[in-house]
Amino acid sequence: MKNYTSTKSKILELLKSHHIISGETIAKNLKISRTAVWKHIKALQKKGYNIQSTPKGYILKNNHDLLTEEELSDLPYKVYFFQKVTSTMDIAKDLGEKGEEAIVIAETQTKGRGRMQRTWHSPSGGIWMSLLIRPSLSLKQAFLLTYIASLATAFAIEKITNIKVYLKWPNDVIYKLNKEEKKLAGILLEIKAEIDEIKYAVIGIGINVNNEISFLEPKAISLKEITGKITQRKKIIKELIFTFNKLLRENPKEILNLWKEKSLTIGRNVKIIHPEGEIEGLALKLSEDGALILKTQQEKILKIYSGDCIHL
Ligand code: BTN
Repeated sequence: MKNYTSTKSKILELLKSHHIISGETIAKNLKISRTAVWKHIKALQKKGYNIQSTPKGYILKNNHDLLTEEELSDLPYKVYFFQKVTSTMDIAKDLGEKGEEAIVIAETQTKGRGRMQRTWHSPSGGIWMSLLIRPSLSLKQAFLLTYIASLATAFAIEKITNIKVYLKWPNDVIYKLNKEEKKLAGILLEIKAEIDEIKYAVIGIGINVNNEISFLEPKAISLKEITGKITQRKKIIKELIFTFNKLLRENPKEILNLWKEKSLTIGRNVKIIHPEGEIEGLALKLSEDGALILKTQQEKILKIYSGDCIHL
């Protein structure tokens, strides 16, 4: 199976570096039969590659934003790509039980989920992925993973698209459109722990890239709406994973500082909504254990660990 995948990647490399290339040349280059080349080409076409077969050879037409395992073969994790799943979180958790580390990506999700039991609309064109890792962190430090993931997502978007984005507590990536705050991406963390140790963490990342935004989500926005063009999702994914791994090696204080610098929440009057009720106050800072520190109108200092945050 692994060899098959790598042969396909090699065929793609050859197709990408030649305007036209014959089956015979590919076969000679990779020391495989012409029938094998033909089978791989068929399989690649099935994955969505527009490969045309002409009397002089094969031509790969550029599909600007095709996501496949082959396009992401240089990532430092095993990549599982699916056309359609219920939720990448479910697949990643199953792999987590099997002891793996991996990235699970889907073109569409039928039961995408967000924070606070919300559904996450996941049509074709977005980045819907779950990063399954086994970090050497205690359960108390797990909060760092969402801060790291939202920072990595924001930095990757900025680097690849040149737009400026911000963070909203706890982990939304925000774009400011004429002073209105629009949500570009969100993070969902699910942890499997034993006693005080993280056994594995599944970090779900949803980014609106080239997908349509549902009319049911007036506060959401996509990169396509902002930039007016198609962004190659694989570029964002690669930059995001690279930055995530780099930040994972940083010390926690630095992570919280970076997050604070990029945040629209700190220094703002906010309303926090959670199942037990609502609280309003001034967001002062993040505590060392990842909570949002609020000062209420009654001058009470509160530590908030979860909930939805509204900037007032
Ligand atoms: C949020 O509510 O802001 C978090 C959204 C997280 C969505 C992503 S998309 C990939 C992964 N699979 C899911 O079902 N959810 C996360």
